[in-house]
Amino acid sequence: MNRLPIVAGNWKMHKSIAEARALVEGLKPRIAGLAGVEVVVCPPYTAIAAVREAAAGSGIALGAQDVFWKEKGAYTSQVAPGMLVDAGCRYVIIGHSENRGRFGVPEPEMTEALCRWFGETDESVNAKTKAALAAGLVPIVCVGETLEDRRAGRTDAVIAAQVERGLAGLSAGQVAGLVVAYEPVWAIGTGETCDTPEADRVCGVIRGVLAAGFGDGAAGSARIQYGGSVKPGNARELFSQPHIDGGLVGGASLESDSFAQIVRAAVP
Ligand code: PGA
Repeated sequence: MNRLPIVAGNWKMHKSIAEARALVEGLKPRIAGLAGVEVVVCPPYTAIAAVREAAAGSGIALGAQDVFWKEKGAYTSQVAPGMLVDAGCRYVIIGHSENRGRFGVPEPEMTEALCRWFGETDESVNAKTKAALAAGLVPIVCVGETLEDRRAGRTDAVIAAQVERGLAGLSAGQVAGLVVAYEPVWAIGTGETCDTPEADRVCGVIRGVLAAGFGDGAAGSARIQYGGSVKPGNARELFSQPHIDGGLVGGASLESDSFAQIVRAAVP
């Protein structure tokens, strides 16, 4: 099955409005006219409008980093799927490990209270995914095991459970249009990359779970990204694997040159 690779930059909590604009302006000439890859940038909410303007006509698509599952109401701080569409977003990252209830990389500020505060679960991922799809957004659903899971030999079971529960109740047609990002928690922002055969193997496990739940057609169409310390030096090898259809890129997406190199590495 021919799947169009997709490379998305997850800017996390980085970039002022001016910096966001400058990053997109730097990116445009570096990927101008490039075919055979879909390029997405996911700025913080505050820079979405500026990025929309800067990216207009460039083919760079806009994504958000999270979404709430209600259409509107008394949900202070939350952003609805329809609001993201209104702001020009086509994609939305859902279930990033930094928002999930368990953190594999302990940081001083990642206290238990903070984990509970974000408190993303497979159930909230499921609700957000359904709401995003209903609004016409393309969800980028993140899954990944912690180092503890991996050491205990639970990787495949953890990933399968996250995929099954996160996507429960979706139609085959909806799954066919999805993006799933395999992001081993221990490889995010650590400089450690999952080695290529293992990253491809787990992406294959994800495709198998999609096939079992939604059929071969849906599983063959859904795109599966790898994420976790993707860099210009490792992107081509990762993206050339049969089950890896591009990447979700954090740190290396914050600079136009490195992100453009990664985008180019997805073109066969
Ligand atoms: P990283 O982040 O590329 O900085 O490891 C990836 C992600 O969290 O999506």
